[in-house]
Amino acid sequence: MHPIEYYRSEFISYLESKTTTKEPINLYQPITYILGLGGKRLRPVLVLMTAEIFGGDYKKALDAALAIEVFHNFSLVHDDIMDAAPLRRGKETVHEKWDINTGILSGDAMLINAYQLFENYSGEMFRDLAKLFSKTALEVCEGQQYDVDFETRDDVTQAEYLKMIEYKTAVLVAAAMKMGGIVAGASVDEQNDIYEFGRNLGIAFQLQDDYLDAFGDPKTFGKQVGGDIIENKKTFLYLKAIESGSADQQKELSDLFSIHPEDSEDKVNTVKDIFSITGAAVRTQKEIENYTEKAFSVLQGLTISDDKKELLHQFGGNLMRRKV
Ligand code: IPE
Ligand code: IPE
Ligand code: MG
Ligand code: MG
Ligand code: MG
Repeated sequence: MHPIEYYRSEFISYLESKTTTKEPINLYQPITYILGLGGKRLRPVLVLMTAEIFGGDYKKALDAALAIEVFHNFSLVHDDIMDAAPLRRGKETVHEKWDINTGILSGDAMLINAYQLFENYSGEMFRDLAKLFSKTALEVCEGQQYDVDFETRDDVTQAEYLKMIEYKTAVLVAAAMKMGGIVAGASVDEQNDIYEFGRNLGIAFQLQDDYLDAFGDPKTFGKQVGGDIIENKKTFLYLKAIESGSADQQKELSDLFSIHPEDSEDKVNTVKDIFSITGAAVRTQKEIENYTEKAFSVLQGLTISDDKKELLHQFGGNLMRRKV
């Protein structure tokens, strides 16, 4: 095993060696742009790390890791159009820098590129990877549709919200880890256990993403702080505030979440105050811990050495403490 940073830098070298901007420039330049903006590279690191955890060679997992990262970046390009987001990783989003049509088509090309990367595997391994990828990609679409549908609903339940974030975010984290297992030739039981670890970690990760969207530091967060509030996203913060707020707070919140004011500053500040006063912010942090703990308890059942468990534990702990 190597330290987490090693997998990240090996992945970035591989990514750079594989990205070229060719003609037509307006199709490929946005792809090079978004992939070059960095980001945390969590999912590809998980693919590589998991491959080695199950006794494989991380080099064999590089194409699967790249496929997952290209797919993730594709989903961000389209997500930023859907969420009308101006900023990504501290820079202009693709549809702001170019236009919406460019974002759509460059995104489509990235999705196809991701699939192509699996052609570098053969036989059963190709089939298992491609099958898992297709299932996961479709679930991400379903999650994204629920996310958008919920913007205009005022009766979203916590169970519905959890299903939505499981699909839009957690399944990709889980699939990244399962792919590492597939490449390493792990048993089906091991693959399922690591998927379950990744799924719980992924739910914690999206809860944290929602928390930071409201309470992150605008100087370092890299996305527009308050973006979810502006778009009337029914996040865990919102649902908890509705659940525990007074009748007046409930009414103010649901009224604010049914409008799109020209100037959103007052709306964002008022909503954040309600999230804090009602205890929704603290409850969300508690839920992030709960799901991280759930992931850790899955870890206990895995038949891997203690130092490997420790590495996954460390990864989960770092995610819980992240600020971006
Ligand atoms: C952002 O993912 C989208 C979510 C699923 C929350 P990341 O927070 O992993 O984005 P980058 O790749 O590090 O920028
Ligand atoms: C995005 O969720 C999930 C996918 C891109 C599939 P968000 O809309 O919360 O992600 P950010 O906050 O824009 O990164
Ligand atoms: Mg978004
Ligand atoms: Mg979104
Ligand atoms: Mg978000």
